[in-house]
Amino acid sequence: MTKALEGVKILDFTHVQSGPTCTQLLAWFGADVIKVERPGVGDITRGQLRDVPDADSLYFTMLNHNKRSITLDTKNPKGKEVLTRLIQTCDVLVENFGPGVLDRMGFPWEKIHAINPKMIVASIKGFGPGPYEDCKVYENVAQCTGGSASTTGFRDGVPLVTGAQIGDSGTGLHLALGIVTALYHRTQTGEGQRVTAAMQDGVLNLCRVKLRDQQRLAHGPLTEYSQYGEGVDFDDAVPRAANDSGGGQPGRILKCKGWEKDPNAYIYFITQAPVWEPICDIIGEPEWKTHSDFATPKARLPRLNQIFERIEQWTMTKTKFEAMDILNEQDIPCGPILSMKELAEDKSLRATGTVVEVDHPKRGKYLSVGNPIKLSASPSEVTRSPLLGEHTDEILRDVLGYNDNEVAAIRGAGALDPAPKRAAAE
Ligand code: COA
Repeated sequence: MTKALEGVKILDFTHVQSGPTCTQLLAWFGADVIKVERPGVGDITRGQLRDVPDADSLYFTMLNHNKRSITLDTKNPKGKEVLTRLIQTCDVLVENFGPGVLDRMGFPWEKIHAINPKMIVASIKGFGPGPYEDCKVYENVAQCTGGSASTTGFRDGVPLVTGAQIGDSGTGLHLALGIVTALYHRTQTGEGQRVTAAMQDGVLNLCRVKLRDQQRLAHGPLTEYSQYGEGVDFDDAVPRAANDSGGGQPGRILKCKGWEKDPNAYIYFITQAPVWEPICDIIGEPEWKTHSDFATPKARLPRLNQIFERIEQWTMTKTKFEAMDILNEQDIPCGPILSMKELAEDKSLRATGTVVEVDHPKRGKYLSVGNPIKLSASPSEVTRSPLLGEHTDEILRDVLGYNDNEVAAIRGAGALDPAPKRAAAE
């Protein structure tokens, strides 16, 4: 079987999380991802949150599988020559440098396009054009400026960020789609183009339903929000909705058996209208099926607190897994709160390759999230992340066609190794 993106060469200038998420996905689909790193330094995450001394961190290894690493000083004249050759050879350049970095390196889009008109240049920035375009941005900045934080948390609490990395990994996903779309477009036109994804835009896209609610506010209160049933007036902006469901069907997180000791003994319970009758039977309130206070979704809205308190009395008699089994028999949507420990040990996630064990020469075995997108004719294997500069010579020779003398000259000019090492050797 060939991989879907086999033959596509990616010049990977990404670092930290957002860009590496994107290029890791492309690598899983079969692209040859050549990660260009600063000599002696590399992607800063190699050394961040280290758990094993002298080994690349999990932060780095879990975001850079299936890639090759070349160290290259792109500010060195010889390094610029090599970079030019990489641009001539590769199909896509992906970067998430701070604003203006590629230009300062001497490789603005116009120059890259002139060197290789077929090249696609894909960039992640914190903000699109506008007042904040020059700002550096990290995950939580994007969550706060993209509408997620203002709509996450409890009404009477501070805005909250979420553990899902929607700013970084979410934008990486958006960019990957932009790249494969541009590759498809190139097959028809022969031309490369620029692909940009701003983290604020990516987060806002994921918060689309909240912009929906912002506009609904102009026409009256948001009746499916708990605060409506509690008689609390709405302001002029979408409020934080705690664990209310975003889809209009009332939902809450409820305690299950063992909640006193286990912080994850909870289940998400949705009182979806079509399954209201089985819900009433399961919780032991069959008369609610016909009672005028409970029989219709509209009648239930002002009574959601009472309803969920009653449902919770039932869920507290079951473990989250027992409750899930019982509810799913009746097609009642629910979600046990699974801890990272439970997910790491989940046999079905291991079987599908969504959770994989990877071996690394310096750190040994570790768990990672494999490719969550499954292609039937192009299955992903997860291979370990590269050591810093592990493939420098191989890429110079096999991908760029330099001979031994040329490689020696590039090295001699200081384009491949860290400057302090050179000084010590001289
Ligand atoms: N050789 C020589 N220099 C290199 C190099 C190489 N191979 N690779 C990078 N550099 C240099 C760059 O030229 C730049 O130098 P300059 O500022 O003198 O022009 C510098 O290293 C890196 O700059 P930058 O990308 O701004 O890194 P940073 O650590 O200062 O900022 C971010 C990090 C993430 C804030 C920033 O890159 C950013 O805002 N990125 C866009 C948004 C984003 O993706 N954020 C989420 C990250 S998960």
